[in-house]
Amino acid sequence: MTRSRLILLTGSLAACALVAAISATTATARAPRQDTPPFVSASSPIAAGEYLMVVASCHDCHTAGWTEKKGNVPKADQLTGNPVGYYGAWGTAYGKNLRQVADRQSEDHWVEVMRTADGGEGKLPMPWHDAAKFTEKDLRAMYQYTKSLGPNPVRLPRGTKPGVKPTTAYIDLTVHDSGGK
Ligand code: HEC
Repeated sequence: MTRSRLILLTGSLAACALVAAISATTATARAPRQDTPPFVSASSPIAAGEYLMVVASCHDCHTAGWTEKKGNVPKADQLTGNPVGYYGAWGTAYGKNLRQVADRQSEDHWVEVMRTADGGEGKLPMPWHDAAKFTEKDLRAMYQYTKSLGPNPVRLPRGTKPGVKPTTAYIDLTVHDSGGK
C-alpha cells in the first residue's frame, strides 16, 4: 500500500469514528429518561389533545356519526355525544357530550373522573381501565382540547337501568351464545 493510500484509509476510518461518536451522542440526547412518564409531544396541549382524541378513539363513542362518516364530522358537531345507546349488563349508557362536560367541570375533576372510572360509578363501554392509564399531562391536554371547542348543548337521551331496554336506537353489547354453530 502506498503511503498516500494509507493516509487516505486512516483518514476515512477517523471520519467513520467521528460520525459514530456524533450519532451516539445524538441518540443519548434523544433517549427518553426512564423516570419520565410517556406523553404525546405536540406544538401545544390543545394540539396534543386533538391528536389523542382521534387516535384513542374517543370520537367513536362521543361524536355522533364518526364511524359511519369515517371521521368527516365538522368540528362544530364533534364530541357532542352519541344518541345511539350502548346496551349491556349495565343497562344503557350514551357516549356523553364531552363539550358540556368540559364546560361544567374543572380540569382537575376531569382528571379525577378519568382516573377513578367516575368514582367507580362509570358505566361501560367507556374504556375506563385504559383511560386511567393516560399520563396526567395527556388527560389535561384532552380536557383543554375539548374545552377549546366551546360548549354545544346537544341533549342526549337518559340512560336506562340494567335489564331495561332503551327506546332509542342502540347497539347491543350483550353476549349472545351461538350454541356452538
Ligand atoms: C366504546 C365507547 C367509548 C369510548 C371509546 C370512549 N368513551 Fe368516554 N364514555 C362512554 C360512555 C358510554 C360514557 C358514559 C358512562 C356513564 O354513563 O357512566 C362515557 C363517559 C366519559 C366521561 C365521563 C363524563 C362525565 O363526567 O360524566 C369522560 C370524561 C369520557 N367518557 C371521556 C372519554 C375520552 C377522553 C375518551 C378517549 C380517550 C373516551 N371517553 C372514549 C363511551 C366511550
